[in-house]
Amino acid sequence: MRLTYTSDVWYKNAVVYCLDVETFKDGNGDGVGDFRGLTQEIDYLAGLGVTCLWLMPFFPTPNKDDGYDITDFYSIDPRLGTLGDFVEFMRTATDRGLRVIADLVVNHTSDQHPWFKESRSGRDSPRRDWYVWSDTPEPDDPKQVVFPDKENSIWEYDEGSGQYYLHSFYRHQPDLNVGNPEVRDEIARILGFWMELGLSGFRVDAVPFLIENVTPRLASPHEFLADLRAFMTRRKGGSILLGEVNLPYKDLMQYFGDGLGDQVTMCFDFIGMQRAWLSLARNEAGPLASALRERPEPPKDCQWAMFLRNHDELTLDKLTKEERQEIFAAFGPSEDMQIYGRGLRRRLPTMFGGDLRRIKMAYSLLFSLPGTPVIFYGEEIGMGENLDEEGRMAVRIPMQWSRDGGFSQAEPVREVPDGSFAPDRVNVADQKRDTSSLLRWFQLLIERYRECPELAWGEYTVLDTGHPAVLAHRSDADGATVVVAHNLCDTAQDVELKLAGLERYRLTDLLVDGTVDVSADGVVRLPLDPHGCRWLRAAPPEIPPEDASVKSL
Ligand code: NOJ
Repeated sequence: MRLTYTSDVWYKNAVVYCLDVETFKDGNGDGVGDFRGLTQEIDYLAGLGVTCLWLMPFFPTPNKDDGYDITDFYSIDPRLGTLGDFVEFMRTATDRGLRVIADLVVNHTSDQHPWFKESRSGRDSPRRDWYVWSDTPEPDDPKQVVFPDKENSIWEYDEGSGQYYLHSFYRHQPDLNVGNPEVRDEIARILGFWMELGLSGFRVDAVPFLIENVTPRLASPHEFLADLRAFMTRRKGGSILLGEVNLPYKDLMQYFGDGLGDQVTMCFDFIGMQRAWLSLARNEAGPLASALRERPEPPKDCQWAMFLRNHDELTLDKLTKEERQEIFAAFGPSEDMQIYGRGLRRRLPTMFGGDLRRIKMAYSLLFSLPGTPVIFYGEEIGMGENLDEEGRMAVRIPMQWSRDGGFSQAEPVREVPDGSFAPDRVNVADQKRDTSSLLRWFQLLIERYRECPELAWGEYTVLDTGHPAVLAHRSDADGATVVVAHNLCDTAQDVELKLAGLERYRLTDLLVDGTVDVSADGVVRLPLDPHGCRWLRAAPPEIPPEDASVKSL
């Protein structure tokens, strides 16, 4: 593995930062975030060390699903700026070495999209077939209803044209029909348009819904994904699709495609994420360790995307009812913290009651897990949620820049929280000055993560720790090794790890000062603080640790 190669396959050890332009920074003082405001904060993001920005939808929208209901795929929502502002932003981001990807929401459009208006105008409309219509839809399976608080069916009757249309999500989001070749061409055109303006790829919304619910059924639904990827590679090598594919591992793997991986470049590890929360709730490494052991290896040029929280509810849909209840009891006991019967509408720090040691340990775990870490804006300063905001909006609150909020001069688009997570207690400006802050911790983790390509690229092994609360793993790549250990409980622990092949090596701490030696029979004793974490680089005693890094190979 050479750096020239790892930089070609840049996404495999990227640090992805998801943000919503609307809530990040208001540049024109109208209370709504915008591209001008975001552009002013590029140096903050570059300084944090993230390498790729994921922009949530910024397209014109009636905003009934926070922008995931689009009326024009080729333009910018006027509240957020203009195409000119977008290009200025792209130029500035690129200048600071940041890549940018954006949400690709083409499973559906808004019902206000001109395509849908035309489609519903009559059964003989030229665009009728751009959406999925039926005289007699199959009876609903309640499991198919994604937002049970608002919908009880995935079909809606259209009075005007006398047929039902499919909507996998809200009724105001009719599903596009990728069974129609014109729709497939149009989707490629959308990708091509934004890639031309500098995007390095897309976070693809709701991938299984996109390829499955179509008429006629695609003979080979995955071929469409492979075609899109081939199109992107022709236009711009190294561009990626980051897929929202919340499926069990065995069903998910086909989304990566064959060979080197010719479909979705990276898939979020929803299973690992949910098991990580079960581990955190129990203070036991077991559930996460077993997910990591079960998790298949993605094709060579693909990668898992790791996350703990995102812009949606913390979904626990792939756990058992009992497991879900355990997490609810630990992290969201009151009903207004829960949503859809399957998740929590909270951010991580409030779930940990603001316990900084535990919060730091959880993020250390995230950055050390094999895969590409994806964080949601505000995680780096430990922002909480505002449960007064409706549904999932609770976590999509304005970025907290300074003690007075600093997001906007005007009344902000959404309310910040009160109390111990209010901007006067949690903000960027204060944390920049405080060397023990969460923000500084993130900077350190990101720096170390980027210096340890083994974590993202290497072959990982979950180690036996002999202690239920401690998760340890090692990542090996091209003769270099990083060992990490996390103590999930709040009492100090000593663990002994067996490190085959590292007999008599010296392990050097990467997060603090310190070394520890591996014995002649390959055993190392690692003391861990309560909620402690250690990242260690292995080197034969005669070689300085920095020279033992995979970088030098
Ligand atoms: C998944 C997105 O993450 C979510 O926020 C959205 O509501 C649905 N897709 C529908 O677009």
